[in-house]
Amino acid sequence: MGKSKKSFIENIFAFECLDSRGFPTVSATVTLADGTSGSAMVPSGASTGEHEAHELRDGDKKRYSGKGALKAVANISEKIAPELKGADVLELGKIDYRLIELDGSPNKSALGANALLAVSLASAHAGANYLRVPLFRYLGGANAKKLPIPLVNVINGGAHASNSLDFQEFMIVPHLSTTFFENIRAASEIFHQLKKNLIKKGLSVGVGDEGGFAPNLGSAEEAIQCLCEAIEDAGYKTTEEVSIALDVAASEFLDKEKGVYVFKKSSGEALKAQDLVALYKSWLDKYPIVSIEDGLGENDWDGWKHMSEEIGKQVQLVGDDLFVTNSERLATGIENGVANSILIKLNQIGTVTETLETIRLAHDNSYRTVISHRSGETEDTSIADLAVAVGSGQIKTGSVCRSERVAKYNRLLWIETFLGGQSFCASPFI
Ligand code: PGA
Ligand code: ZN
Repeated sequence: MGKSKKSFIENIFAFECLDSRGFPTVSATVTLADGTSGSAMVPSGASTGEHEAHELRDGDKKRYSGKGALKAVANISEKIAPELKGADVLELGKIDYRLIELDGSPNKSALGANALLAVSLASAHAGANYLRVPLFRYLGGANAKKLPIPLVNVINGGAHASNSLDFQEFMIVPHLSTTFFENIRAASEIFHQLKKNLIKKGLSVGVGDEGGFAPNLGSAEEAIQCLCEAIEDAGYKTTEEVSIALDVAASEFLDKEKGVYVFKKSSGEALKAQDLVALYKSWLDKYPIVSIEDGLGENDWDGWKHMSEEIGKQVQLVGDDLFVTNSERLATGIENGVANSILIKLNQIGTVTETLETIRLAHDNSYRTVISHRSGETEDTSIADLAVAVGSGQIKTGSVCRSERVAKYNRLLWIETFLGGQSFCASPFI
């Protein structure tokens, strides 16, 4: 057998595993001719964007309330595995385009983006393992040395918690150090300070889906104030050392018929897009906010344009549900001057190659990228490697609480240690 043949795919198996909410998801293992293998698990969202690639669910109400993933698993074993047998795992682009072709639908609804991504990501891992290099180096090459600044979600709301907060995520952004090690320490210390402060106020310190606290605060502004207090009480300086990021996830509280954003979990107040933008603008003067994600709905291109003109020079405006890691939607944004950053979630588009293409398009057009987890996660840490591979400079992977979140931070600490002093963090916020 020639040397190259050893990297050919011999077998792919898949199984239905559980995510951090206890719902089923897909795991795949790709084994090569030389016995090397690579595995991956696919995450799953709750505040899923309308334009995301399709997550295939069984719909059999007798199993997991219809959320079973056996069809996706069967698609891997029966349809994908036989087609990819003999493919060279080192040609990830070819594998991914074969997957896209096999699916044949515009949004990966035929085989399921969950089936496709499990195989794509497991192939990437198998390739890295075959070459005996860490995934970040396999995907990013020898120059991949930039560690991301973490956006750490310490107060959960919206669809991720059953509390009174309409906005989904209130994040602290530690950017005081050129090491990840020190930045994540600040995040942890502030998280614990926040816990103490909430207890003092008689508020709940139970956590939401992403490991942040889920207190019944009166308003989004109150949550922002709690973050500022915790940062300062923990001994850090706001703005210079630690800033704040929000994921509004505005599509979740948009009344589509009336075209207004309704704070349905708290005050019941209804705001037009321009009022919401005016509210953000007023906060930028008062609070150390450096990033606002999905500040308006996923189809509100006019509102987004207005928001970008109003505050896009002052603050990072991240499109998540708006862009769904889709290069065509991002291209529309770039053309129209909408947003200045994109959230990157592998399972929104369904293959590693397409994800890398979207990231390249963003960087080529000076849009920042934030590599992201989903609210339903697993112990898979691939996104930590992806963030370093592409030098995105930012990662959003929840609180410093719940192992499926912390696993990504621990992987980054491993990468930093592995790189032995060659790595660095560079804050885009100062
Ligand atoms: P999701 O939330 O995974 O539930 O979509 C994450 C986000 O909106 O950024
Ligand atoms: Zn989001």
